[in-house]
Amino acid sequence: MGISIGLVGLGSFGGQFADLFMSHPLVDRVALCDREPERIRAFADKESWKGKFNRRDAYASLEDICKSDVQALVVITQHWLHAPQCVQAMEAGKHVYSAVPVITIPDGDETLEWCNRLVRTVRQTGLHYMLGETTYYHPQAMYCRRKAAEGAFGEFTYAEGEYFHGYDRPDCDLRDVYRKRYASKAGQEWAGIIRERYFQKGILESPMHYPTHSTSGPISVMNARAVKVSAFGQKPCSSDPYFDHQSFGNETALFQMSNGSTMRICEHRECSVGRETFRVYGTKGSFENNCWKSYAGEVSLSAKEMRDPLPPEVAEAFAKAAGHEQFYGGHEGSHAYLVHEFVDAIAHERRPAVNVWQAVRYMAAGVMAHKSALRNGEPLDVPDWGDPSK
Ligand SMILES: NC(=O)c1ccc[n+]([C@@H]2O[C@H](COP(=O)([O-])OP(=O)(O)OC[C@H]3O[C@@H](n4cnc5c(N)ncnc54)[C@H](O)[C@@H]3O)[C@@H](O)[C@H]2O)c1
Repeated sequence: MGISIGLVGLGSFGGQFADLFMSHPLVDRVALCDREPERIRAFADKESWKGKFNRRDAYASLEDICKSDVQALVVITQHWLHAPQCVQAMEAGKHVYSAVPVITIPDGDETLEWCNRLVRTVRQTGLHYMLGETTYYHPQAMYCRRKAAEGAFGEFTYAEGEYFHGYDRPDCDLRDVYRKRYASKAGQEWAGIIRERYFQKGILESPMHYPTHSTSGPISVMNARAVKVSAFGQKPCSSDPYFDHQSFGNETALFQMSNGSTMRICEHRECSVGRETFRVYGTKGSFENNCWKSYAGEVSLSAKEMRDPLPPEVAEAFAKAAGHEQFYGGHEGSHAYLVHEFVDAIAHERRPAVNVWQAVRYMAAGVMAHKSALRNGEPLDVPDWGDPSK
């Protein structure tokens, strides 16, 4: 039997997931929720939605959809809202999917407290939480996790992950992204709160408070956690207003990992390349630049070779909804996998791969890196909430 699902937040990013969730064969019913009514209409009026969407299932707020009987909510609202909204959803009895990261707010201690609350809420409610981390389902990450499961890396020795996204990147200018996120009702409310609660007290934003694209690859492939970090920040070179409330333009961190290896992470917002990728090195084999490398030689891999297969009926349904075979969606085709993983996990009552324990692991690494950078590289311990089975 299929499940019912509510999509909360149908803005620039949430809108990219709507057709995928609607068309998944294990979804019987879809509800739509956004504070901006025209964002609901964009899908509610679609002919292809008629079979799974009823107009009664349009909601103007998270509070309202929490009172409905849908089983699971997909929260793709602005980044400062994720953790409180996910806690609210689970307390209302819903399984929940969250866009990344766990939360992004200027205060690191408050962020760690939200990590704590999320883990506690999952434990108390017994409901599932999944983080929609796109890098986790990049073809490279899927391939490396398969190689790790075979033991092909040998002992892990070193890994690197980076999210290079210059604030002025022509195809995705962060000033435009922020402008759009602040333009809606939720954004306008936050503009006042962030100024009063943080900026006026000198608590500034940080690139490392959006760390999941860089940390999730190495952490998930090595299945290790960050233990200790030393990080440094570079003050913004530009005087662009984008950096008015940013502590650093770029932050770079070196972590000691629980498996004895080291991991180097970059979160850079002033740079001339755009990429979110990783490399992992081991005593028997290594992965870098889409190549598997060992003393036996080098194998160059295509995205198709690196991807895990999707169940044929799911691939078929996604292709039909997209109207073509390139149905995987954005961020290196990760969207289709994120949607499938969440729906399949909820329908089969199993824990999603990027569960709350993974999610807080990616987040805490960034929070502690920023704290270290503010203290000029002082080595700091990274907290961890353990693993689900414990
Ligand atoms: N690669 C990635 O994983 C990736 C890429 C882009 C964005 N994101 C994440 O996705 C999130 C959304 O980004 P976006 O650009 O779509 O933002 P957006 O501002 O375009 O959309 C957010 C939507 O959420 C709605 N909303 C907020 N509070 C609500 C509430 N209480 N009830 C109902 N609706 C509510 C807003 O009205 C808005 O339409 C961001 O937090 C970002 O972190 C992740």
